[in-house]
Amino acid sequence: MAGRAGLSERYVREWLGALVTGGIVGYDPESRSYTLPAEHAACLTGGGSANLAPISLINALLAKTLGSVARAFQEGGGVPYDAFRPEFTDVLDASGRLAYDEGLVVGLVEGLLPLTGELPARLADGIQVADVGCGTGHTTNLMARAYPRSTFAGYDIIEDSIERARAEAAEYGLANASFEVLDVTRLRADPPLEAVFAFDAIHDQVDPATVLDRIHEALVPGGVFVMVDIKSSSSLEDNVGNPLAPWVYSVSTLHCMTVSLAHGGAGLGTAWGEQVARRMLAEAGFVDVEVHDVPGDPLNSVYVSRKPVA
Ligand SMILES: C[S@@+](CC[C@H](N)C(=O)[O-])C[C@H]1O[C@@H](n2cnc3c(N)ncnc32)[C@H](O)[C@@H]1O
Repeated sequence: MAGRAGLSERYVREWLGALVTGGIVGYDPESRSYTLPAEHAACLTGGGSANLAPISLINALLAKTLGSVARAFQEGGGVPYDAFRPEFTDVLDASGRLAYDEGLVVGLVEGLLPLTGELPARLADGIQVADVGCGTGHTTNLMARAYPRSTFAGYDIIEDSIERARAEAAEYGLANASFEVLDVTRLRADPPLEAVFAFDAIHDQVDPATVLDRIHEALVPGGVFVMVDIKSSSSLEDNVGNPLAPWVYSVSTLHCMTVSLAHGGAGLGTAWGEQVARRMLAEAGFVDVEVHDVPGDPLNSVYVSRKPVA
């Protein structure tokens, strides 16, 4: 294996020791051979969204700021978004892109949007839409490509993410997608929006309550807010047994919570959970809150809510 990969045999053997004892790779002591079961290979190889390997890049990135987080354990405060740049843009893009392309069973447009009721039909007719905390804007661009009559605006505070989003919109030849560096606590209510999306972008906000208020204010009566966020309970005890929960809490400690606390924020944490999310949506004035599982995606829930008509 080392020979085929052009790697040092001693390192590969030590690494395999970890994978065998971790139950990822099988080992036959008689033949001293290693096997990767097909069902494990499905989650660790290939260019599809089932390959979890790109997500593991987050672990390497977050290790770089470990010292600063350790200081925050002692002194309080946190580590700001800027400390994770410039690598953050690429790592986040790599971890989300495939899921939006063809994960969630068949991708964002065909897998997730149908969970939002009549929204696909309204998008097809042509409406004003915002994608808050859009990162590299892949979600915005995918929707803009699928719904040419609608107009999409993506907002993020990170400049290099917005540049990447604009470049992709140009590559797709989109005239109906635009991107702006904007702190969405200042989201504008003009022109009024008929739909707002937030993909994995509420729980790490410094001031999530204000962001939800602004989204509510920017929507027309009857407008729809679609929030894709981590699937968890707000009660720790309910998350015991969820195999993804240790990773979710760890990423929170090392990134999502600390970026919020760095600015004296709410520090909701990645596992803020459905109960808190429902309470905060209600406090911002949203009604008809529905929470859906995403087929094929154990990590996220889709919250669909509305601004009341009257
Ligand atoms: C976890 S990332 C998700 C990015 C993207 N939606 C995705 O799914 O790949 C959260 C994003 O929210 C952005 N963000 C955080 N606070 C923000 C704020 N107040 N205004 C605008 N963007 C914000 C971050 O810069 C980051 O790109």
